[in-house]
Order: sequence, then C-alpha cells, then structure tokens
Amino acid sequence: MDNKIQEEEKVKIIDNKKYHQQESKFNEHDHENSLSSSSAEEEENENSAEQQFINYITSHLSDHLTVEERSDYLQKVLSQWRKHRKHTQEEQQMYKKYIKTIKENYLGTNSLLPSVHPLYQFQNWKLNPKLIQAINENNFDSVLVQVHPGIYTFECFDEEFCQQLIAEINHFEKWCLENGIRVQRPNSMNNYGAILDNFGFEPCLQDLMTHIVEPLAKHVYSYITPPLDSHHGFVVEYSMNKDKKLDFHVDNADVTLNVCLGQEFTGGQLYFGGVRCQEHVQTPSLPNEDFYFDHKIGYGVLHVGKHRHRACEITSGTRLNLILWCLSSKFQAENCGNHKMCYKWCAYHQINECFHKNSHVKHD
Ligand SMILES: [Fe+2]
Ligand SMILES: [Zn+2]
Repeated sequence: MDNKIQEEEKVKIIDNKKYHQQESKFNEHDHENSLSSSSAEEEENENSAEQQFINYITSHLSDHLTVEERSDYLQKVLSQWRKHRKHTQEEQQMYKKYIKTIKENYLGTNSLLPSVHPLYQFQNWKLNPKLIQAINENNFDSVLVQVHPGIYTFECFDEEFCQQLIAEINHFEKWCLENGIRVQRPNSMNNYGAILDNFGFEPCLQDLMTHIVEPLAKHVYSYITPPLDSHHGFVVEYSMNKDKKLDFHVDNADVTLNVCLGQEFTGGQLYFGGVRCQEHVQTPSLPNEDFYFDHKIGYGVLHVGKHRHRACEITSGTRLNLILWCLSSKFQAENCGNHKMCYKWCAYHQINECFHKNSHVKHD
C-alpha cells in the first residue's frame, strides 16, 4: 500500500469544463434555435469581451514601455486571446452537440427514458432514513461523524441501491460503446468513470445537493456562504487494469460529497493533507493534518473542495465512487481575487499564527 506522504509532490488543480459551460446543461435548451443567439447579439458580446480583455491588459502594462512597445505587446496577446477564445467556443459547440445526441437517443435500463425512469427521480432514491430524519429535525449529531477535523462521514445509501446505480452506469457505458459514442470522462485527472449529469441524472443530483449536501454543509462549514447553486456529478472507477490511484489535488468545488458504491476492493483509501487556499496550496502538510479514510460501501465522506487529498492505490478489485462537486456562486464571488477572505478557512494561516505566537513567547 502506498501510504507514504510525498511532500515534494505538487498539488494538482483538478478541473472540469462543465462549470464553464453552464448554458449547455442537460434538460436545458430543448430547441435548436435557443442554442445560438442572433449574430448581431453575438458580435456585440464578442466586442465587449474583447474590450474587457484589452482594458485588463492595458491597466497592467508597465509605465516604462514606449507607445510602440505597448501596442506591439497588446497585438501579440490579443491574437493569442482570440485564438484561445475561438477554440473554447468550438469546444462548447461540440459539447452541446454531444449532450443533445445523448438526450435524444439514450434509454436507461429497461428501455426507459431517463425522464420517466424511477432511478433517475430523486424521490425514488433510497437514502438512509436516519439521515433524512436528522436533516428534517436539524439534529445532525446522530448521523454525522467527524472522523478528522473538517472530514465527516455518514451512511448515505443502502447496498442494493448502490448496485442499481452501478448497473445504470454500466448500461450507459455499454450503450456508448455500441453506438460509437465516446464516454466523456469525469474531469481532467480521472481516465475512467462517467459524468452522471450527461445522461439524465442532472436534476436528481441538483436535488441531492440542495436537500442533502447543503443542510449538512451549512451545519459543519458555516463559513461557506449558501446556497450551493451548481454541481458537477460523476462516478470514478478504480481497478487494477484502469486507474489505480489519483494524485494529490484539490477539487473544483466548495463542498465535495464522495460516496462509495462498491464493488469489492482492497486498498484505495482517501488520504487528506490539510485545507489550503489557492495561494498556499503547495505548502507542506503538518503531521496532524495527515488522515487516511477507509471507504465503506454506501457511506459518504463530506469535505471542502480545498481539503487536499489523493486516492491511494487500489490493491485488488474494483472501486466505484459517486462524487458530487458543489459550488456556491456567492462564496466564489466573495473569495475571487480577495485573498483576505481565506484566513477564515485556509489552515496555512492558523499554522502561521500559531508559529508566530510561539516564537513571540520564546523571544519575550
Ligand atoms: Fe477529488
Ligand atoms: Zn491561505
């Protein structure tokens, strides 16, 4: 088992494109016409985006440059920016087409459309009744177990339901294979698994975020401004001949719910190494921040997205986990470009405060 902490290992920023393509979510834009706005409107948007970019660049240019140097530099970066923008737009168009194809053609198990398939409706999800009761009664201590500062676990689904979900995921992958459709992988780091939002689970996972993750997060991460209002829901798969582990990283999420669905496996613990903001993400973890979580089928683990973690190597079998990344646009806006906010949650500041306090005492 690979339990050694590799401090020199760089923390990766895992990403997914979907957050940047909110307009192309499943269940939205039913009509082809609504996919593209009028060309005049498009042109206006383009001009305004370009002007914003120019303003940003010119306000950051050094005063020591001559007028010619400034103009040269601006032309160069502008041409790069236009290329990148075109590429992104083409990718978005392709993604929209991909989602449309699935939506128009995919049938779930028992040949049922996801919109009428019981497993795709949140009210049919078999959540632990004690969890529901705890949320309804605002009494979380009975179900939520803090296994390490900031890391919580609770019983989420029963095993039979986990098996049903796995069968549905396998069914989708098989359908993709038979129809020559590629399975879009969950994020920039996982090479196996699937995006649940892509084939009908989008509304259901939005409900899971709103009705389960949000009340729990409000209770344990009070510094994250609610509501959680967007998500990325996917399944990751680890086995001996697929991905065996996942490198040290932070999620593109404010709060992450990670539920083990099965099957049989050994190894594959989730290692945690401290909460860090973007600026301090590469700072070493302290020994008391190290924590290994053992997955148990049907149990969820809740952590903030910036709690650095990695999946240890699986030593046998197959492990599938449902992962829900949840974002709060309010919390994102408060923290964006405002580094002062992170003292509330980035452990680096607490570590340094302690360090300064102690060294102060020593020198006194
Ligand atoms: Fe992760
Ligand atoms: Zn920080």
